[in-house]
Amino acid sequence: MSTLYERDEASIAGIEKLRFFPLEVVSGHGSTLVTPDGRELLDLSATWTACGLGHGHPAVAEAVSRAVRTAPGAGGLSAVHPDSVGLAEDLLALVPGSGERRVYLGHAGSDANDVALRACRHATGKRTVVAFEHSYHGGVGVAMGVSGVHVDAGAAPDPDVVFLPYPNPFRPTGGGIDADVAECLDLAEKHFATGAIACLIVEPILSDGGLVVPPDGFLGQLHERCRAHGVPMICDEVKMGLGRPGTMHAFEHDGVVPEIVTFGKVLGGGLPLSAAVGPAEILDEPPAAALLTTAGNPVCTAAGRAVLATIVADRLAEHAAKVGAALQDALRGLAGSPGADRIGEVRGRGLAIGLELVDPQTGDRDPRFAAQVVYRAWELGAVVFYVGGNVLEITPPLVLTEDEAARAAVILGDAIADVAAGKVDAEEVARYAGW
Ligand SMILES: Cc1ncc(COP(=O)(O)O)c(C=O)c1O
Repeated sequence: MSTLYERDEASIAGIEKLRFFPLEVVSGHGSTLVTPDGRELLDLSATWTACGLGHGHPAVAEAVSRAVRTAPGAGGLSAVHPDSVGLAEDLLALVPGSGERRVYLGHAGSDANDVALRACRHATGKRTVVAFEHSYHGGVGVAMGVSGVHVDAGAAPDPDVVFLPYPNPFRPTGGGIDADVAECLDLAEKHFATGAIACLIVEPILSDGGLVVPPDGFLGQLHERCRAHGVPMICDEVKMGLGRPGTMHAFEHDGVVPEIVTFGKVLGGGLPLSAAVGPAEILDEPPAAALLTTAGNPVCTAAGRAVLATIVADRLAEHAAKVGAALQDALRGLAGSPGADRIGEVRGRGLAIGLELVDPQTGDRDPRFAAQVVYRAWELGAVVFYVGGNVLEITPPLVLTEDEAARAAVILGDAIADVAAGKVDAEEVARYAGW
């Protein structure tokens, strides 16, 4: 009898896989995933944040069951229904901004970003998009073409994108982080001055590029320059937004009010749902230019409303700040334990935490070590992936408890120690390419 993993290998297209270990799961509850043989794994990824409320959250389960039983059709393309309009209203109330605004509802962070980018090009009559090196905005269309991660991997960039360096306080270039910020802002200014810029798209915390938290004030200074040149800023909150950084929105940290904000992942509570919130003059035009038949469908929008209501009512942003601080402290507390010289830095905000693994002699990135650590963590009972080659991306469900946070730190510490002690079969790990 083949295993579930072997059946997957023989049936599902490799093009949509990003695998780090042979993870098989059949159910989940809270921050726990359950394997076919009944093993419980602590989920420190939340499916790359898409299960931000955890698995089987009652509010999502109830909303979805209600909606699916009596669904008035399957989309908002040619009809209106209470959950799509209600979700758009909820988002307008939750996202700061002024003037006449609209909400695009879609299926994935990718299409929300793609539509926002295309709408900016149409509204401004300009083509060039300013984006960031090592950024990730999606796997289709313009969103893919302006994603530094894809371009790094050899994909053709959009013909009209320019990339700025994202300031990384842990790995500043020669002149130090302040000089890096100044250089990035100068470069932005130079591009803006050409008058050819349709928009700028930015992650408030660089996620797939290595969970890089930019220096305080960076986003604000960038936005000031955008405003001075009338360039709309698209703030991509798809991975970091809606409570995870300890605030409702990651951009709040810098007191910024971006022109357009995009959401995905957690918004659907595990179902496909995304949104772009921005000015009517950008998102209303041209009509019928972003049509997905089942976008705004009653089931996903009901889930989205339940997710937003739960994040607000259960004060999950505050919870993420508190439990995230405890988890970060526990991870920093690993200093001095076996293998801990491999930890270059623990950083993050709330429950968006990066743990950078390095060669202790040189301080260089150590992607091989990171691949082995996530594999070992899975063997020891936790699911965590890496980004930027060598950074563990620790983004558990927002409902993670303090006890679970303490357990997470123990498992990760043990995994690092075991890999440093050579307890992991490097050949077996190498079968899972990751990225
Ligand atoms: C910041 C960011 N934007 C957009 C996306 C694309 O979202 P999706 O995979 O849901 O299309 C991702 C996915 O990882 C992301 O991290």
